[in-house]
Amino acid sequence: MAANDSFFQKKKPAAVLKHAVLAEYLNVFCAMVGGSFSGPVWLVDGYAGPGTYDADDDGEPVTGSPIVALEIAEKAAQWKSPRNIRCAFIEQKPNYLKQLRSNVKPFQDRGCHALVLGGEVQEQLPKAWEEVGTSPVLTLLDPFGVSMARGMMTGTLLGRSKPPSEVLLNINVEAVSRHGGYLQR
Ligand SMILES: C[S@@+](CC[C@H](N)C(=O)[O-])C[C@H]1O[C@@H](n2cnc3c(N)ncnc32)[C@H](O)[C@@H]1O
Repeated sequence: MAANDSFFQKKKPAAVLKHAVLAEYLNVFCAMVGGSFSGPVWLVDGYAGPGTYDADDDGEPVTGSPIVALEIAEKAAQWKSPRNIRCAFIEQKPNYLKQLRSNVKPFQDRGCHALVLGGEVQEQLPKAWEEVGTSPVLTLLDPFGVSMARGMMTGTLLGRSKPPSEVLLNINVEAVSRHGGYLQR
């Protein structure tokens, strides 16, 4: 069993907080920039996971970040000033990718524009970025440890300011201090 294999077995308080931050940020981002730019607003989830966590103690299914985003996309299409939110999800691990595809499908069937890309984030991000084109985009980076190479973050994701491209980065502080310790040694 790999160190992170139990991650999706039960949603931890940190994940509840992370999804609340994602939901709030995405809502505000779409409301603000979606009003100033025509066309879609994108959410790119670079480390998407399967889309669900195992059921909680009440037996209720618990949503992961892709489903949090898709639920907002469906609601935003019904706002008084509707927003067209499109999503791209990237996941490397084959069994998570399979679950992700099946969790995303009902949303696609209802008309949501959601792209699911299998593979390593640094390889797949350019494909997602091609789809994004010149639309405003919010990218969520939520790896288990530290994230992608700095060049991709600053060059691609944060390389333009108009239309806005913003990044929500969830980092594991323990992993960062571990890497810092290795460097010092
Ligand atoms: C912390 S979990 C993501 C949880 C998800 N954002 C959520 O909130 O529901 C990190 C995910 O990234 C995937 N992953 C790890 N390294 C990756 C990489 N280099 N490229 C793409 N996916 C990766 C893992 O398989 C795992 O599913």
